[in-house]
Amino acid sequence: MIDFDPYDEAFLDDPLPVYARLRSESPVHRSERYGATFLSRFEDVWTATQSRKLSVAGGITPSQLLLGAPANPDMPSQMDPPRHTAMRAVLSPHFRPGAVGRFEHEIRALARARIEAALSVGRLDVAAGLGAKIAAHMACRIVGFPLEHAEALCERVNAFFHRRAGHRGETEKAAEAATALFGWVAEFVEQLRAEPARATGLSADLLAARIEGRPLDDAALVNAVVNLLIAASDTFPKALAATVDRLVGAPDALRAVVRDPGLLPAAFQEAVRLETPTQFQGRTVAEPIALGGRTLAKGERVCFLFAAANRDPFEFAAPDRFDLARRPPRTLAFGNGLHLCLGRPLAMLEARVVLEELFARIPEPVPLRDEARFARTEYVRGWLRYPIGFEPEAASPPRGRG
Ligand code: HEM
Repeated sequence: MIDFDPYDEAFLDDPLPVYARLRSESPVHRSERYGATFLSRFEDVWTATQSRKLSVAGGITPSQLLLGAPANPDMPSQMDPPRHTAMRAVLSPHFRPGAVGRFEHEIRALARARIEAALSVGRLDVAAGLGAKIAAHMACRIVGFPLEHAEALCERVNAFFHRRAGHRGETEKAAEAATALFGWVAEFVEQLRAEPARATGLSADLLAARIEGRPLDDAALVNAVVNLLIAASDTFPKALAATVDRLVGAPDALRAVVRDPGLLPAAFQEAVRLETPTQFQGRTVAEPIALGGRTLAKGERVCFLFAAANRDPFEFAAPDRFDLARRPPRTLAFGNGLHLCLGRPLAMLEARVVLEELFARIPEPVPLRDEARFARTEYVRGWLRYPIGFEPEAASPPRGRG
């Protein structure tokens, strides 16, 4: 019987063989140690993420579900209907493809400036120097948080997810970063209250919103803003770097996307499927539910192993292959169901535009692997730093500007 522990160091070094064993030997895996059940097959996770019998009110993060960290009922991602439905109605208009599409030129200009500045140096960090900067800028832009805070936001979000080998869950540094981030956003909310006419973007709508008949109090405003700032900044740089990494590892695919940038969204989606940044999140059983042949009792914790499900051979032929032609009808990289990632259209837009600009100027990047840094955590995995090198004079002239 497999003894699964998401904090185990050997698992964190190389989760894929463990995910494969879970899928085949124990797809609905009960952990007595954590009092939780882990789902690793695509179909089970897909079904469970659509069920109203599971609740987010007990928290969704590994620390909340496995280590007893308190849930946060003021975070939109930890609200059940009807409050969640009302909150999504306020947030969703800002994230529809048509709404985020207005920012295409801004994203392109930011990406171009960063790439052009790197051309003379011959190196660029795709994660920390490009993806993180653009994601944080767009997080601030959409939320209406001061743009000059984007740089500091990158650092605070990285610290928020800080982990130390041998220590389960958030470290002291992560706890300090969380306190600092909440304090920072609380000051922002105080300023909004003092001068509501100056609120922009989503903040203006949050200030004006009435949820279940009442305006949002300060705690609800702060938590909504923190939720959005973190969600928008953390995963995108990892997904962007994973795409570049997958493409440099598949020269035919790299040549194909350089020749035809229309393939870039497919490359991004395939990389996010294979290198799913959010390893898992979960729920608490609100009403007994049958999953994968077992009935889970009320109060039980259920964890969706998104990264395992996205490589399930019952769902994806040759699941470990990076295949530009795959175009799967469904994946779980952005979750599913009521809590499906709100920022997916923004992430897709950022990816397309940034990758178009990147490969137009640097068609043959060489990863500087000795300088790369990887976050190997139980929660969000992926590249924190992914520098690429190239001959400055070899950079090709820009194509298809627009
Ligand atoms: C490649 C980038 C991204 C990935 C891989 C990703 C992944 C995910 C996943 C897996 C969930 C589901 C959580 C669950 O089921 O409990 C989620 C939810 C969410 N994401 Fe993303 N995300 C990305 C980018 C973004 C961006 C750019 C935003 C912009 C604000 C965003 C905002 C959110 C929010 C607000 C939720 C919670 C939605 C809810 O609970 O109703 N994400 N994301």
